[in-house]
Amino acid sequence: MDFPEKIVFATNNAHKLKEVREIVGDRCQILSLGDIGCVDDIPETASTLEGNALIKARWVKERYGFDCFADDTGLEVDALGGEPGVRSARYASAACGADHDSEANMRLLLANMNGVSDRKARFRTVIALISGGEEHCFEGIVEGEITCIPMGKDGFGYDPVFRPAGKSLTFAEMGADEKNSLSHRRRALDKLMEFFG
Ligand code: IMP
Repeated sequence: MDFPEKIVFATNNAHKLKEVREIVGDRCQILSLGDIGCVDDIPETASTLEGNALIKARWVKERYGFDCFADDTGLEVDALGGEPGVRSARYASAACGADHDSEANMRLLLANMNGVSDRKARFRTVIALISGGEEHCFEGIVEGEITCIPMGKDGFGYDPVFRPAGKSLTFAEMGADEKNSLSHRRRALDKLMEFFG
């Protein structure tokens, strides 16, 4: 299947949009939800990353008519039995009352990891694509560990507390180019780009 001229990426997260546009480059124009006039708070009610990514992609296709891809990402920490996983965006919501509060999410994660020596973790991204009437999912994983304190100012979400395996810097300490060369989203997007050929 050829790369479309334009496709919607079902997000309004400016950080994700920038990462994806940098990775896809001039292969195709990436439109955000804002670009198609979608201000809906799309529910993420599935129990898996794949389920949530499909909800978002189907929402755009069914209501707005655009071919589209959507991602859902989870941070899986071995010592926490895979938590926060699919609940990564809402991890601290019971404590702080808000979803998508990265500072509160990181504080809770570090508190739950206090004194824990096994700090192995991974970011997992699933991208759901709806194109040409077909649905496809692509997964990207990056292994790493949870630091003891937040380090670095770049990136977003849990970037300051995640150090990829074999690296000395957290995602938030790396430049965008380095994060984009090895991230979970990069690995899932590579599969999507391979699919389009
Ligand atoms: P979602 O895919 O937007 O639902 O993201 C789930 C959670 O993971 C949110 O708290 C995001 O901030 C976080 N997250 C998603 N992608 C990244 C990333 O690349 N780095 C750090 N945190 C991320």
